[in-house]
Amino acid sequence: EDIPSLAAAYAEYFPIGAAVEPFQTTGLKSELLKKHVNYLVAENVMKPDAIHPSEDKYNWENTDKIVEFAKINGMELRFHTLVWHTQVGNWFFTDAEGKPMVDETDPVKQEENKKLLLDRLDSHVRTIVSRYKDDIKSWDVVNEVIEPGDPEGMRASEWYKIAGPDFIETAFRAAREAGGPNIKLYINDYGTDNPAKRDHLYKLVKELMDKGVPIDGVGHQTHIDLYGPTVTSVIESMQMFSDLGLDNLVTELDMSIYAWDDHSDYGEEIPEEILQKQAERYHELFEAFKENKEILSGVVFWGIADDHTWLDSFPIERTNAPLLFDKQLHAKPAFWGVVDPSKLP
Ligand code: G3I
Repeated sequence: EDIPSLAAAYAEYFPIGAAVEPFQTTGLKSELLKKHVNYLVAENVMKPDAIHPSEDKYNWENTDKIVEFAKINGMELRFHTLVWHTQVGNWFFTDAEGKPMVDETDPVKQEENKKLLLDRLDSHVRTIVSRYKDDIKSWDVVNEVIEPGDPEGMRASEWYKIAGPDFIETAFRAAREAGGPNIKLYINDYGTDNPAKRDHLYKLVKELMDKGVPIDGVGHQTHIDLYGPTVTSVIESMQMFSDLGLDNLVTELDMSIYAWDDHSDYGEEIPEEILQKQAERYHELFEAFKENKEILSGVVFWGIADDHTWLDSFPIERTNAPLLFDKQLHAKPAFWGVVDPSKLP
């Protein structure tokens, strides 16, 4: 297709990225990626259960494949994610007797468990960061640790239940020590525009910074939809973190064509006006990103084309169309909204 390159159109603003699976680094999909993005992240293979499935086993192969592809094509790379409450092996949270640490009631053993978990985490982070520190600049150290509905606004994950908030500090410090000053360390989360979420995140980040914990920025997943949140609220949140001296990154951008509580399905017949509306909203969003390029260091989409998106199976199985290219890998109106709105019908 004879169309402009997305990344080239944004060269003077910030890099543009996409989440990929290793199999997408060959074939047609890889051609689309090479033309339009200069930043990559793994959709799944860098997650704890994939890269570190058991205590003494690391799987490097899939991550290596993405690292290699990025290198050959001169693309930047991010790591997602060292710590998460899901897609993480149970072995982290199991004591030497095979008992789930969360079930422990003896305070002495609870203390031992906490120490064991933090030691495992420390070693997990150092091993991975040491291996990739020269190839990967930008790291999601912890993902989705805020949950406004849980006590203190901290997600009641196994990490938190066993180790309290200390696991966050341990992960950031280990990452900095193993990776040195040149890698950038992020706390990543979704819904960061939502005031409840945002304010808990802000408080946590501020406390970490006051304690001297090495943190460079906030990753805003930005899984939005056609109807919300407002572009203004997305930018306002970035501004708050920027005022703390932190970088902002859009880490997982996509735009569902359904409202978040709408469980209907257009099937393969997505109405033209929906795609048009999506193009206008993407346009508005990227205009705001450009205007705020000083506080934003990159925009990474969660995928590249509508043939492969988590939103086709979440919250239900249905046809979604959240990205800039369609299932046939052709540019959608959304692409033109972002690259050249004069081409919109
Ligand atoms: O690899 C197995 C395969 O062997 C098995 O046959 C198949 C059967 O279900 O599952 C495959 O694993 C799936 C995996 O994706 C790889 O395709 C999991 O079931 C599925 O749950 C998993 O979904 C991923 C999801 O994170 C997990 O929570 C999505 O692809 C991925 O897009 C999504 O990404 C997250 C970010 O990491 C964090 N922010 C939200 C974002 C969207 O949920």
